[in-house]
Formats: sequence, structure tokens, C-alpha cells
Amino acid sequence: MVERIEEIEVEAQAAVEAADSAAELEEVRVRYLGRKAELTGMLRGIADLPPEQRGPVGSTGNKVRKGLEGLIEAKVEALRNAELEQSLAGDRIDVTLPGSPARAVGHLHPITRTRRLIEDVMIGLGYQVMEGPEVEHDYYNFTALNHPEGHPARMLQDTFYVDTDEHVEQVLLRTHTSPMQVRAMESAPPPLFMIVPGKTYRRDSDATHSPMFHQVEGLAVGEGITLADLKGTLLAMLREIFGPDREIRMRPHFFPFTEPSVEFDVSCFRCGGSGSLEDGSRCGLCKGIGWIELGGAGMVDPNVFGFVADSGYDPDSVTGFAFGFGIERIAMLQHNVGDLRLFFDNDLRMLEQFS
Ligand code: DAH
Repeated sequence: MVERIEEIEVEAQAAVEAADSAAELEEVRVRYLGRKAELTGMLRGIADLPPEQRGPVGSTGNKVRKGLEGLIEAKVEALRNAELEQSLAGDRIDVTLPGSPARAVGHLHPITRTRRLIEDVMIGLGYQVMEGPEVEHDYYNFTALNHPEGHPARMLQDTFYVDTDEHVEQVLLRTHTSPMQVRAMESAPPPLFMIVPGKTYRRDSDATHSPMFHQVEGLAVGEGITLADLKGTLLAMLREIFGPDREIRMRPHFFPFTEPSVEFDVSCFRCGGSGSLEDGSRCGLCKGIGWIELGGAGMVDPNVFGFVADSGYDPDSVTGFAFGFGIERIAMLQHNVGDLRLFFDNDLRMLEQFS
């Protein structure tokens, strides 16, 4: 009987070898290991055998059964792998190919476009474009901009502080791009003509404020620079953006880091500065004032130069002007967008209008 089992083994091994589909293999399994298989019957009948045959038949039978089970399992696995490979080869997709139909090429975000326009204009006026850190030290954001500790002007800006265990309220998200004035002066002696576009952060959210927004800072330092140069520079820039007929006005204001300080307005490009439209109605854009408020500016305060005296900024020999304004505000005016938050909702229906 042991011999017969060994014959079955050879036969079954050949059958497993020959099977080349899962279905055939299952047939082989049923034929050699199923309930009605010869080997199964022999193992079931062991108890009826003479005692001296039970041992050898049992051990050979079980060994052969286990061996065949393993063999079939391995073959199942091999067939599965082969099938997978075949289907991978057949259904191959090149995910790097362009879609069909090709997706339309996108375009720059309107805020980026306005930023680049401003950069182009200012590069044309001889300014360099600089960038600065968005996570900033209190020193650059406030102290070196002539906001002494405890100065009420610090409260004017709802600052996000960065929680660092050691330096409580020393690290923050910059509330304006002005800190780069000091960093730029630290990095190069006068004359210096630079602008800093970039993200700024304040705890503020409504139709004209977002916790993250963009500003452009400008700084010009050299010998004999005056407030008239500031006015001419702003006028040149704003005429490039809003049209050649624009005028500019400056109103006295206060900023800690400029003296004197001003706010600057551009004449309204909808009503031409008259405050009323052709049909006699009040201009809605400037609310009948004729002027649109844009940003802050002024002559660099000598105290600010005091923080960069080591880099060659001596208030007795150089003067300078600085200005700052919001990019969103410019873009809202350019495109007649009423709510600043629309720029950051990333709704394609909004963004695709700028293609
Ligand atoms: N940093 C000011 C703000 O965010 C704006 C500003 C005012 C910038 C006067 C300047 C300046 O450079 O001279 O409110």
C-alpha cells in the first residue's frame, strides 16, 4: 500500500506540474486530495489495516498529502503572479502622458500677477527686489522700527506670536513687510533702493482683511533724498498700474518708523477724481471723495538709522523714504473685486476669470 501511495504521489506531482490554470489545479486537488480521492480513502481506512501496516501507511500517506497540499499552494501562487504580470503588461498606463483631452494650461494667480506688475515697474525705476522671513523676530518687526517695548503702536497690529518656550513674545509672524527695511540696511551700505513683496499676517478677517495678506515695502536711502522723491516715485508707480492720468496726494499721518509720515491716495480712476460719474451720481468706487487710499509712507526716522549705524547709515549724511501698501488692495481695485477673501477661496469660477 505504501508503494501505491508513492505512485499516487508521482502521478499527482505530474498533474500539478501540467495544470496551467486555477481551474485545472482545483480539479487536480479534488482528484488527489478531495473527499473521494484514493489517498483520502486509504488514510480514512487505516484503522482497518493490520496493526503492522498502520504506521508506515499513515506516515507515508500524511507526508504525501502534506507535500501535495504545499505543491498545489505554491502552484496557485505562481499562477496568480503570472496572471498579474500578464495583466500589468497588458493594461499598462503611462501616468506621465498628458490627459486626453489635454487639460488647459493654468495661469498665474491674480495676486501673483499684480505683484509681478509692481515688481516690473519698480525694477524699471532701478529698485532691487528682496525677500524676507515671514516668521520674524520682534526686534525687526517692532523694536528696530522704532516701536520701543510697551509702545502703544505695537497694539495697533493684531500680532500672531509664535510659541517658543524660551522667547515669550519674541518670535512672531511678521505683521508687515517693513522689518526688511532694517534687514536690508544691515546687509548693504547706502545707497539702497529696494522693494520687498511678500506675505504678512494679522489677526483680522472681514471683506477687506484676511489673516494672511500681501504687502509691498519700498525703501530708498541715499544722499539728498526728499519727500518730493517719494511723491514722484509713488506717482510713477501708480500711473503704471492705474493709468497715465492718475494723480497722487499725501496726507499727514503717524507711523513710528517714519518722520514725517503720510498716507497716500491715488485719484479715482473711475470718476477721474471728481467724485461723481457722468450722470451726476456719486462715484461708488471712491465714495464721492475722488481719492482712493492706498498705503503708508514717509521719511525714514533717524532712530531707525540708529539701529543700522554700523552698516554705514549715518542720519547726518543720508536720508531716505519708505512706503508700504497691500497687494490685495491694488488687485481689488484693478479687477473690481469687492471681497478680498475671494482671492484665497481658490474657487476656479473666480480664478478662471483672470486667464
Ligand atoms: N508697515 C505699515 C503697515 O503695515 C505701512 C507702512 C507705513 C510702510 C509707512 C512704510 C511706511 O514703509 O513708511 O501698516
